[in-house]
Amino acid sequence: MCGIVGVIAKRPAAGLLLEGLRRLEYRGYDSAGLATLEGGKIARRRARGKIRALEDRLREEPLPGVTGIGHTRWATHGKPNEANAHPHATGQVAVVHNGIIENYKELRRELEQKGCVFQSETDTETVAHLLSVYLREGASPAEAAAKALPRLEGAFALAMIFAGHEGLVIGARRGSPLAVGHGEGEMYLGSDALALAPLTSRVTYLEEGDWAELTADGAVFHDAGNNIVSREAQQTALSGAMIGKAGYRHFMLKEIFEQPGVVGDTLASLIDPETGRVALPDLPFKWNAIQKISIVACGTAYYAAKTAKYWFEQVAGLPVEVDIASEYRYRSPPLHDKGALMVISQSGETADTLAALRFAGERGQKTLAVVNVPGSSIARAADGVLQTHAGPEIGVASTKAFTAQLAVLACLALDCARTRGAVDETRLDALTQALRAVPGHINAVLQKSASIREAAQILAEARDMLYLGRGLYYPIALEGALKLKEISYIHAEGYAAGELKHGPIALIDEDMPVVVVAPHDALFEKTASNIQEVMARGAKVLVVTDEKGASSLDPPPFWQLALPEIDPFAAPLVCVVPLQVLAYETALAKGTDVDQPRNLAKSVTVE
Ligand code: F6R
Repeated sequence: MCGIVGVIAKRPAAGLLLEGLRRLEYRGYDSAGLATLEGGKIARRRARGKIRALEDRLREEPLPGVTGIGHTRWATHGKPNEANAHPHATGQVAVVHNGIIENYKELRRELEQKGCVFQSETDTETVAHLLSVYLREGASPAEAAAKALPRLEGAFALAMIFAGHEGLVIGARRGSPLAVGHGEGEMYLGSDALALAPLTSRVTYLEEGDWAELTADGAVFHDAGNNIVSREAQQTALSGAMIGKAGYRHFMLKEIFEQPGVVGDTLASLIDPETGRVALPDLPFKWNAIQKISIVACGTAYYAAKTAKYWFEQVAGLPVEVDIASEYRYRSPPLHDKGALMVISQSGETADTLAALRFAGERGQKTLAVVNVPGSSIARAADGVLQTHAGPEIGVASTKAFTAQLAVLACLALDCARTRGAVDETRLDALTQALRAVPGHINAVLQKSASIREAAQILAEARDMLYLGRGLYYPIALEGALKLKEISYIHAEGYAAGELKHGPIALIDEDMPVVVVAPHDALFEKTASNIQEVMARGAKVLVVTDEKGASSLDPPPFWQLALPEIDPFAAPLVCVVPLQVLAYETALAKGTDVDQPRNLAKSVTVE
């Protein structure tokens, strides 16, 4: 949520800051702004809306200066207008901020009593005024930061520049990520290494509570107690090339089509090519030593966790508790003394997931993170990490990260099953083979996009929809509904098909299309009955099934898509793909902003 950048350069800062912001726009796009030092004075340009609008503004009124900070906003406090756009500035200091200052009301009252005049409704502006008060009392920028930071409550990353202090940027992190980039006679700050990739591949991640003084010569790091500390720089493997759409109309479509490769790469990282068996790096716990695993995540990653519950329980016989991170962290769950915690996160920065991880870790549970971004806060806080090899996911609606998460989780379940002796080797080999066939099956599904486009024309007219599935296809139905509502703004709910009669069937009429995920598995006949029940009540039913399922639905539904037949164990990775395409095509038909849907941001670093 919100992206921040800072530079101390030998060349004009504005272009470098804009480049960084473009790469961070996935974090928020309500407004954008830059501040630089121009002749020692703070100069700002801000614009409501996407970075494009800021670029237009800068063309009209360029911003000189070689030291500066920039921001792309996902609004928390205050409307997404220009007055609330960052940087927030007084005469002495300009500040950009990611996160929330929870005690901003008290601080604002105190600062107003001291005569500070606020220009915005934001929590961030309190930081600018607080720093200014200390500066006016005679503090240096570093002293002002050292005094102000402990007074802030909440989770945040901040970057600040100071009038009269050319070549100085101060950055601070508590809860939200911040990386320092090392250049040749230049230094940079960014919310993530992706923002800094065109500038440098040498980065230092600030630790929790750290703040750093950047000058052209390097950085001085301080911990939360203001002690000077050393922090290692590391090489990142991210490419400096701007991540492009490779000829696709949207990032989301490109990412959907990348799935055969992404799932293949992720499986290849976990399956030994010689033996064809799952071979994982050492985990922070032994499968035989635990009696329960808790899997915690948010949004799409949570639906990956729900899918994994079926796998672990059915194949490995390990009890699994699945929870939404924002619930888990606050309900103080009693932790099993033979338990372990797994979190799943694409970004590795989701605030609630990180807090859940810390909660369990501080109480002695071993923690494993499945993340897409190496070096992210979650990756660094966990005892062990398994990486999804999805590459940067830019479309706000998660697609390839989900199937890559499923690939890792399926391998984990197989590893667990083998270690616990829950399944014989022949069956394990068959399940591993089924997984290895997934990339080819996804490819086959993607060839059917034209048929899915036809179905989308029906959905585009709907106001409400239901998605149904049983067993392993229930979490997939939930994910399908989430994709649709996120990018098309059509209200969609996912239900376990067996729950239909317990309430939701009352909603069914001819205006309520129902999407059912029902390949021919052991539960197919039961779902087929549910399909007939909704068809009998006039609903247009769209079924994602396989050849066998398609030939046994009588009467046939309004629309159906027959997927290649695949072992039900691996089928969730394939079945979700047509639902992603369906959501994409529906959004396209409705003309919504597919890659940057309203009100959302890619990385949710606030609670
Ligand atoms: C949905 C989506 C979100 C994320 C959720 C968790 O398309 O992208 O629901 O899945 O915000 O994000 P990560 O995986 O980064 O922790």
